[in-house]
Amino acid sequence: MTTPSGRVAIYPGSFDPLTSGHVDIIERGARIFDSIIVAILANVEKTPLFSEQERVEIIKDVFQHQPNVKVETFNGLLVDYAQQKQAHVLVRGLRAVSDFEYEFQMALMNRHLAPGLETVFMMPAEQYTYISSRLIKEVFTLGGEISGLVPPLVEQKLQAKQKAKKR
Ligand code: PNS
Repeated sequence: MTTPSGRVAIYPGSFDPLTSGHVDIIERGARIFDSIIVAILANVEKTPLFSEQERVEIIKDVFQHQPNVKVETFNGLLVDYAQQKQAHVLVRGLRAVSDFEYEFQMALMNRHLAPGLETVFMMPAEQYTYISSRLIKEVFTLGGEISGLVPPLVEQKLQAKQKAKKR
């Protein structure tokens, strides 16, 4: 089914921060769908490292030359947001078997809530299969090398946060 603006997909997540794995999935999605909305979950209880606004700005900057990649935040149920956007597809990345159970549960719950909304799983390039936002934050905080695992802008922002904290 297409909408007036074409086939719209939503790629939801926390993106705290955006990783090279996320970038890979967004690029793949942007080649398949007319547009892909990167939808950042707002107001989660856990305190994020990057604010909603910072995450929006980072993703907008990284995809500034790709007009069919849009960035938004959403609250509440993902299926309600998808309906509001007239999107019929959710994109999620699958890195390893360990992702499967959580993703399977979410996909089936979302299908229960909105039968017309399809979840499409995409695999990132192999070199990104071990990357997660949580590990990036941990490795960076402990002084490990993360270049190539996140876009350069994310690395700069992490360094800036670290400097500000030391002051
Ligand atoms: O990057 P994440 O943290 O794995 O993304 C999880 C996300 C944002 C996709 C999920 O928590 C979500 O959809 N939250 C919105 C609330 C909702 O719809 N919950 C029911 C999901 S079955």
